Amino acid sequence: MKCVVDLNEALAKQIAEELDTEWTPNLDDILGRSDIDCVMVMTPSGTHAALGIRVAQAGKHVITTKPMDVSTEACDRLIAACDEAGVKLAVDYQSRYVDTNYRVAEALRRGWLGKPILGEVRFKWFRADEYFERSGGWRGTWEMDGGGSLANQGAHLLDLISWFMGDFESVYGEMAIMNHDIETEDIGLAIVNFKSGAKGVVVGTTTFPTSVYFSAEVHGTEGGILVDDVLGGKMRVFGEGLEERLQQIENPIHSIIEDFVQAFEEGGDLRVDGKEGRRTVALLEKIYQSAREGKVLSV
Ligand SMILES: NC(=O)c1ccc[n+]([C@@H]2O[C@H](COP(=O)([O-])OP(=O)(O)OC[C@H]3O[C@@H](n4cnc5c(N)ncnc54)[C@H](O)[C@@H]3O)[C@@H](O)[C@H]2O)c1
Repeated sequence: MKCVVDLNEALAKQIAEELDTEWTPNLDDILGRSDIDCVMVMTPSGTHAALGIRVAQAGKHVITTKPMDVSTEACDRLIAACDEAGVKLAVDYQSRYVDTNYRVAEALRRGWLGKPILGEVRFKWFRADEYFERSGGWRGTWEMDGGGSLANQGAHLLDLISWFMGDFESVYGEMAIMNHDIETEDIGLAIVNFKSGAKGVVVGTTTFPTSVYFSAEVHGTEGGILVDDVLGGKMRVFGEGLEERLQQIENPIHSIIEDFVQAFEEGGDLRVDGKEGRRTVALLEKIYQSAREGKVLSV
């Protein structure tokens, strides 16, 4: 059985009608039901851990949308509650399921780009003031959004760069409010050093005047890949015979739901479990701390 839960009854009803399923405004209504196995938490970011913990304590598996929550302290509480209840925890970063991004991660893992040298991720978007005022004004606040462009839209890219390049060693961050009336940043920048010795750059802004793009680029001693659109998958490849080899890599999983099902049926690992989802939040915290203190911090 599926059920849509939203405090906004009209919205819950509308979505339930579209999905031809049940609805309720109250999470407790589904937590006692034996025909619900898993709950996907898609509420404002600063509420994910608290709601996820209630779900886990009811013995149901938890998926949160990105980011896992707004602080590592909240992520740790959620991870502990899921461990204690013996339920699975996943974080939905949909760019992990795009074929192109999977090929980049695999190429790096298999050493096809040689020794990794540089990883870059960028997103440029426009968000009007009205976007930050909607839905009770939770976006662009530290308490509920956990930051600005980097924490909200940029979380996808922080997740991708850590998937591609591995663990972080240190970070230097900068943030600014250029064109919005919000608490948090509308432009966020970071220079990162990876444990592998490679360097990285993160750029995220909601001040770009038109359209939107999310891109990622990595190179090593033997080749490079530019992903022009990490959600759609356009790619340019630099390196002898690399493109043909990349096309042969088959991505076996295309959504968080398929990922969850394979984790149950075959016992495989989730692409982004609780520990992996926490990494992005930990990096965000360090970028913001570094920007406030004006110094490089170890991660
Ligand atoms: N994966 C993606 O690309 C993507 C895209 C958009 C948003 N998100 C994430 O989704 C989350 C929500 O963002 P949004 O833009 O949809 O926000 P939103 O404010 O438009 O929607 C949040 C909904 O949660 C409901 N809600 C809040 N508390 C609740 C509770 N206790 N019980 C039931 N319902 C409750 C609200 O009524 C509202 O309808 C954020 O964490 C955001 O980062 C992810």
